[in-house]
Amino acid sequence: MKTLVIGGAGYIGSHVVKALRGAQHQVTVLDNLSSGLRENLQPGTEFVHGDLMLPGSLETAMRGKDAVIHLAAFKAAGESMLVPEKYALNNISGTINILNAMSASGVSRLVFSSSAAVYGEPEYLPVDENHPTRPENFYGFTKLEIERIMDWYDRLKQIRCASLRYFNAAGYDPEGEIRGLEQNPANLLPVVMEVAAGLRPSLRIFGNDYDTPDGTGVRDYIHVTDLADAHLRALDRIARDDTSLTVNLGSETGLSVLEILESSRSITGREIPAEIVARRPGDPAKLVASAARARDLLGWSPRHSDLETLVGTSWEAYRRR
Ligand code: UD1
Repeated sequence: MKTLVIGGAGYIGSHVVKALRGAQHQVTVLDNLSSGLRENLQPGTEFVHGDLMLPGSLETAMRGKDAVIHLAAFKAAGESMLVPEKYALNNISGTINILNAMSASGVSRLVFSSSAAVYGEPEYLPVDENHPTRPENFYGFTKLEIERIMDWYDRLKQIRCASLRYFNAAGYDPEGEIRGLEQNPANLLPVVMEVAAGLRPSLRIFGNDYDTPDGTGVRDYIHVTDLADAHLRALDRIARDDTSLTVNLGSETGLSVLEILESSRSITGREIPAEIVARRPGDPAKLVASAARARDLLGWSPRHSDLETLVGTSWEAYRRR
């Protein structure tokens, strides 16, 4: 399959590109390198320096392609509440540009990076795809809005879409081929790794008075290599059945901030100083996925998402620096 990966130089995108190439896809990466890294581009991968806001560049890159995978979005939930216009333009308008370019170029399969942020504060656990969608931050709203627009393009333009609702993406390529580190990360595991590597003084733990076993926030961490595998399966499925789908991608296991911290201390052998600070607004106590639908529809199950592999593969990437 000839596949265009938009955002393919980014953290998750580069892992998806690796999986696609392993499955003999002919891959073109389109990225504006605003957070993506040239070093994430594997030798032999065709690269287009383009942008979602330049529809012409999208249409040119789409010519002759069989499918598009779209991972080019801003993802900092906190920032999205301060500068919603940035998220509205890039995440929502940018995806509309992609859908219109697909329609104009006759490309009819799209795999889209959605998020567990579409659900908002969980009303029950584990969260399945029928859970109400009431995003608590503007970032989550952009993802939900795009899902709804894709639904209309499915009906009106026969563009088949897979919406993959990621829980907390973490870890690095276990084979060590993808080493690009995210700049100014806000997510827990890269922050912990930066402290371990001496790049920041300490970890701030956002609250230890949640209704969880150790008082810190519990999340469902899913390894990027498992996420990448799900993209391949989702693309195969929408192509084979000419149908759209929406699935959660999570490990179905909850890990607390303290569990991640303790494991990181033990695996890295570093002290990793940490302090308890106030809760971060909008953070739920606990978020864990039901991934039953992904298992049923895609035959997918995580293979790298245990605590040791999540932390160990991350440390391999950071240790080398
Ligand atoms: C959020 C989004 C998720 C999105 C992800 C991408 C929600 C509910 N979730 O995940 O959909 O894909 O961002 O960025 O909007 N923590 C600390 N100290 C830190 C960083 C994090 O204690 O320095 C804690 C948080 O309070 C939380 C856990 O670690 O309990 C995970 O936080 P984070 O990695 O930021 O991800 P989410 O907020 O869960």
